[in-house]
Amino acid sequence: MEETLQALREALCEAKTVAALTGAGISAESGVPTFRGKEGLWRNYSPERLATPEAFARDPRLVWEWYNWRRGIIHRARPHAGHLALAELERKKSADQEGRRGRFTLVTQNVDGLHDRAGSQSPVKLHGDIWRVRCLDCGREERNEQVPILELPPRCHCGGLLRPAVVWFGEPLPPDQWERALAASAQAEIFLVIGTSAVVYPAAGLAEVARRSGAKLAVINPQPTPLDHQADWVLKGESGKLLPRLI
Ligand code: OAD
Repeated sequence: MEETLQALREALCEAKTVAALTGAGISAESGVPTFRGKEGLWRNYSPERLATPEAFARDPRLVWEWYNWRRGIIHRARPHAGHLALAELERKKSADQEGRRGRFTLVTQNVDGLHDRAGSQSPVKLHGDIWRVRCLDCGREERNEQVPILELPPRCHCGGLLRPAVVWFGEPLPPDQWERALAASAQAEIFLVIGTSAVVYPAAGLAEVARRSGAKLAVINPQPTPLDHQADWVLKGESGKLLPRLI
C-alpha cells in the first residue's frame, strides 16, 4: 500500500492537470449514508424508488420526507480529513509551480455540499445541490437551508410545488456542469475516482473519457469497482484515511 501511495504521490506532483470524481463513499465517513447497500435504505424504500420524477408526481410529500431526513443528516455532518485533503490538493495545484500553473478540477456526484464546506472552490456538481429548491411551475430556483422543512410539500411564491434541485433518475445532468466535467476529464493527466461505485452513468463514463484521452487512473475505495482493472493505481481503503496520507 505505501508503495502505491508513494507512486501516486509522485505522479500527482508531476502532473499539471488533475481531476477527481467523488461519490457517496467520501461522505460516508462524515455519517452520510451511501446509496447502494443496506445503509442506503430509508423505511424500506430504495433511493431508486424515491429519486425519480414519477415518485415525486405520485407522492411529493413522501419524497420530501425522505429529503428532510437526508437534509437533517447532512446538516449535522462535518467534512472530514479526506474532503480537506482534496481542497488542499486544489490549492497546491493552482499555486504557481516554477512559472507554470497547474489545475485541479473536482467533480462530484454528491449533493451534500461537504466539498464546499471543506474549502473546495466551485466543484462541478453533476447531480445538483440538496440545499437548493426549484419550482415546478415557474422554474425559479433558490437556496433553502431550513431543517426540517415544516410544511410539506413546500410551495413557491407563485403557488407551484417546490422540488429539490437535484438530478433524479431518468433526468439529464445540468449541461454547464457536464461540459466542465467533460473538459476537465479530457484534459487530465491523472484522474482520481474516489468513493463511487462507478455504476451510474453518465458520471461513471468520465473515467473512460479521461483514460481515452491519455490520463492515468487511480481508484480509492474499500470495495472493488468496475474500473479497477483499467486503473494504474488501486488504493483499497477509506478516503478519510488515504487522501490525507496521499496529499
Ligand atoms: P454508491 O452508494 O453507489 O457507492 C458508494 C461507494 O463508496 C461504494 O463503492 C463503496 O464501496 C464506497 N465507499 C464506502 N465507504 C467509503 C469510504 N470510507 N471511502 C471511500 N469509498 C467508500 O454511491 P455513488 O457511486 O456516489 O445519484 O452513487 C452514484 C449516484 O447514484 C449518486 O450520485 C446518486 C445515486 O443514485 C443521483 O441521485 C442521481
